Amino acid sequence: MLNPCLLSCFLFFFFVFFIPQPLFSCPQDQRQSLLEFKNLLTHNIKNHSTTHFFSEGLETWRPNSDCCKWKLVGCDTHSPSKEVIELNLQFLVRSDSVSVSSSILRPVLRISSLVTLDVSLNSIVGEIPGDAFVNLTRLISLDMSLNRFNGCVPPELFSLKTLQRLDLTSNAIGGTLSGDIKELQNLRELFLYDNLIGGEIPPEIGSLAELRKLSLEQNKFNGSIPSSIQNLKNLQWLNLENNKGLSGEIPTWLFGLQKLKWLGLGGNKLQWNNNGSVFAQPKLTDLSLRACGLEGNIPDWLKNQTSLSSLDLSMNRLEGSFPKWLADLKIKTIILSENRLSGSLPPSLFQSQRLSILVLSKNNFSGQIPDTIGESTKISILILTENNFSGSVPKSIAKNQRLRLLDLSKNRLSGEFPRFDPKSLLWFLDISFNEFSGDVPASFGSNTLMLSMSHNNFSGEFPQDFIKLSSLMQLDLQDNKISGKIPSFISHLSSSLEVLSLRNNSLKDSIPEGISNLTSLKVLDLSENNLDGSLPSSLGNLTGMIEPPTNSLSNFVFLYLYNFGLHDLAVNWKKSKQGLNQKNIYLYTLLDVSKNKLLGEIPSSLGNLKSLKLLNLSNNEFSGLIPQSFGDLEKLESLDLSDNNLTGEIPKTLSKLNELNTLDLSNNKLTGRIPESPQLDRLNNPNIYANNNGICGMQIQVPCSSSTHTEPPEEEEEKNEEETMFSWEAAFIGCSCGFLIAVAYGIGYSNLLSIYYFIKII
Ligand SMILES: *[C@@H]1O[C@H](CO)[C@@H](O)[C@H](O)[C@H]1NC(C)=O
Ligand SMILES: *[C@@H]1O[C@H](CO)[C@@H](O)[C@H](O)[C@H]1NC(C)=O
Ligand SMILES: *[C@@H]1O[C@H](CO)[C@@H](O)[C@H](O)[C@H]1NC(C)=O
Ligand SMILES: *[C@@H]1O[C@H](CO)[C@@H](O)[C@H](O)[C@H]1NC(C)=O
Ligand SMILES: *[C@@H]1O[C@H](CO)[C@@H](O)[C@H](O)[C@H]1NC(C)=O
Ligand SMILES: *[C@@H]1O[C@H](CO)[C@@H](O)[C@H](O)[C@H]1NC(C)=O
Ligand SMILES: *[C@@H]1O[C@H](CO)[C@@H](O)[C@H](O)[C@H]1NC(C)=O
Ligand SMILES: *[C@@H]1O[C@H](CO)[C@@H](O)[C@H](O)[C@H]1NC(C)=O
Ligand SMILES: *[C@@H]1O[C@H](CO)[C@@H](O)[C@H](O)[C@H]1NC(C)=O
Ligand SMILES: *[C@@H]1O[C@H](CO)[C@@H](O)[C@H](O)[C@H]1NC(C)=O
Ligand SMILES: *[C@@H]1O[C@H](CO)[C@@H](O)[C@H](O)[C@H]1NC(C)=O
Ligand SMILES: *[C@@H]1O[C@H](CO)[C@@H](O)[C@H](O)[C@H]1NC(C)=O
Repeated sequence: MLNPCLLSCFLFFFFVFFIPQPLFSCPQDQRQSLLEFKNLLTHNIKNHSTTHFFSEGLETWRPNSDCCKWKLVGCDTHSPSKEVIELNLQFLVRSDSVSVSSSILRPVLRISSLVTLDVSLNSIVGEIPGDAFVNLTRLISLDMSLNRFNGCVPPELFSLKTLQRLDLTSNAIGGTLSGDIKELQNLRELFLYDNLIGGEIPPEIGSLAELRKLSLEQNKFNGSIPSSIQNLKNLQWLNLENNKGLSGEIPTWLFGLQKLKWLGLGGNKLQWNNNGSVFAQPKLTDLSLRACGLEGNIPDWLKNQTSLSSLDLSMNRLEGSFPKWLADLKIKTIILSENRLSGSLPPSLFQSQRLSILVLSKNNFSGQIPDTIGESTKISILILTENNFSGSVPKSIAKNQRLRLLDLSKNRLSGEFPRFDPKSLLWFLDISFNEFSGDVPASFGSNTLMLSMSHNNFSGEFPQDFIKLSSLMQLDLQDNKISGKIPSFISHLSSSLEVLSLRNNSLKDSIPEGISNLTSLKVLDLSENNLDGSLPSSLGNLTGMIEPPTNSLSNFVFLYLYNFGLHDLAVNWKKSKQGLNQKNIYLYTLLDVSKNKLLGEIPSSLGNLKSLKLLNLSNNEFSGLIPQSFGDLEKLESLDLSDNNLTGEIPKTLSKLNELNTLDLSNNKLTGRIPESPQLDRLNNPNIYANNNGICGMQIQVPCSSSTHTEPPEEEEEKNEEETMFSWEAAFIGCSCGFLIAVAYGIGYSNLLSIYYFIKII
């Protein structure tokens, strides 16, 4: 038998010495250009240690090999010169903090034989090097989307007469769009969406007779829709959404465009006069008239749009009920949020085997959720929040195999909540602010990421079934009537759990040591219960509160769903309730055990929690000293130790807390001088030190030498809450998660990348 080592030696020599050199390879100068590009790119990247560099394919780009055999490169195999005609350079750099200069493209643009060039998703910054494009006279498709190009659309691009597809989506390109666009007579697809381009839409666009897809949404275009667009007889896809500046009447000729399937006009100042039954001509597949001032009933000329797959009429002033004909149209995506629709839902709506997204939030729908809900086989997103639905939720809802997001919050739903199958695919459940009762529902699938069940009437003990939810990241049970102890099995909850709120329940006894096993916890809120005993020192081992925040793909999914209305997590910020925005929830680290009956000394191990932004131990019976170690909580913005039995001096180490902007030490037995530091000196509201055993300091204008202790003056009630929230906001803006955030932040439903990810994950 052949020795395996010998075999591999043989193979090695075979590959090294016997690979035949190709007779024809790509032109030398083109190979050089590509190697130069690779070199520039890798150098650019090496200067940033934190970069994730996805070189997939680039490793095959080696000197002295045929560049037509390289990955990402396509050559013209029909011609003897084997010139490079195709380059797929997308996603080479995927980084949250790094950018590469647009000048790295220059070597690539020297390859004048290029027909297809894709450099999307590379964090490229700077102006598009227009002058370098002049020789690309064969270019048909140019994709520069999802970078950070700025400047304007360079005029040289308009000389690329062969161009059929131009995609500059999701960059920071500004300026206006020149009428010279008319030079691109072969253009079929023009994607400029999610940029900063302003001014009027040039009427010359109407002379691009081949145009099929025109996507100008999410820019700053103003003025009216040019009437020349009616000349675009081949137009299938027209999206002008979210320009805010587009105004005037929605022209009726739009509905006369015979091939139009996709029409997006939402998010502008366009007005619709809602009597257009005559325009029911084309077979639209996608229609958005979001925020177009629609009034009255849902327009019934839609009845004839039997090809409709997605309909967005959100943010109008539509009234009346959900029409039965609409339920029967078999539409995949229906978004009617933020209108004045009322009445109950037609049962046939859920008998559609196509419906997959239904968003009806912020209307006045009422009555029961129809029993037919279980018959819908495709529904994946169901959002009914902020309506007036009542009665119990049909058990059959749990039968929906594809349901990923269910938001029934802020209605008047009651009774027990149905049990979901352990195989259920549900990710997000929000049933908060209803009147559900009975045991806390804990029967869900192991994929569940978020459960928000706050502000109901759930009772009984904390259910053991929660430990089966091995992917859980957020569990919000605040404002219920959960009783008994915090069970020791809490240490077996999902190790991904980042948010746990049991605030305002009826939990008693001590906090189990094992809670420190939940190493991902960043938000732990146990306030307003009847907890007693001492605070476990193991809390100092909560890694999630020690390490700096990181963003993950799951956060990204949260972010995406936020656009569908996922709402804030309520916490107590200082003395008032505030919502933590789901968009950047991963940035918040807080520990709140206030309003219990905890006693004993505050464990000094809490000083380990270096990422903590808020620590609230107020309204307990803690005694002893404030730990010196609190000076190590370098990220702390808010510290509330008020209403305890703390003694001794305020540790000098607190002067190290440079981020602290909210402090309350009132109602204790503290003595001595307030430490001085630029930050502490600013916290000079006497109320935060009030009712102690003789605190002095220049901050509260009580001289330390004097033994006479005067009540602090009652002025300066102004608290700096605004500043506080601002600093979180600032942390968000300054964070290095820019890449993911930038593409998803506030963009709404039409964000390409988030939809891409979402569909991929679904
Ligand atoms: C990378 O850093 C080196 C030295 O630190 C510098 O010479 C080089 O120009 C940098 N490269 C780029 C592309 O910024
Ligand atoms: C275009 O091609 C001409 C002739 O080959 C050459 O001189 C010029 O440098 C090229 N321009 C660019 C920007 O590559
Ligand atoms: C459109 O915006 C430009 C500036 O970007 C401004 O000069 C022009 O007057 C605006 N036109 C209309 C119709 O608002
Ligand atoms: C449509 O409404 C406008 C005003 O909103 C009115 O002037 C026009 O006559 C109406 N057209 C039809 C066909 O009802
Ligand atoms: C819908 O189409 C039918 C014929 O297919 C026509 O009779 C009717 O008037 C149309 N309705 C509307 C509202 O356009
Ligand atoms: C909602 O609908 C109910 C009737 O179902 C009505 O009594 C109520 O006034 C409506 N509320 C609003 C805010 O329109
Ligand atoms: C909810 O519906 C009831 C009648 O069913 C009505 O009295 C109430 O005003 C509605 N609530 C809101 C907020 O519209
Ligand atoms: C809450 O549930 C309890 C039983 O656990 C019941 O007595 C009470 O009436 C419910 N309260 C509300 C507001 O539904
Ligand atoms: C506690 O929760 C109940 C609902 O269970 C709510 O009515 C009450 O206002 C909440 N208390 C506080 C202080 O938020
Ligand atoms: C904490 O987790 C470890 C490992 O997962 C486990 O061995 C230990 O029993 C847990 N501690 C408690 C108190 O549950
Ligand atoms: C924290 O964890 C370390 C090691 O993981 C352990 O030795 C120590 O006892 C823990 N501290 C507390 C207070 O639980
Ligand atoms: C506060 O501490 C003192 C001793 O320092 C003790 O006598 C008193 O009972 C404590 N009060 C409370 C409410 O724990």
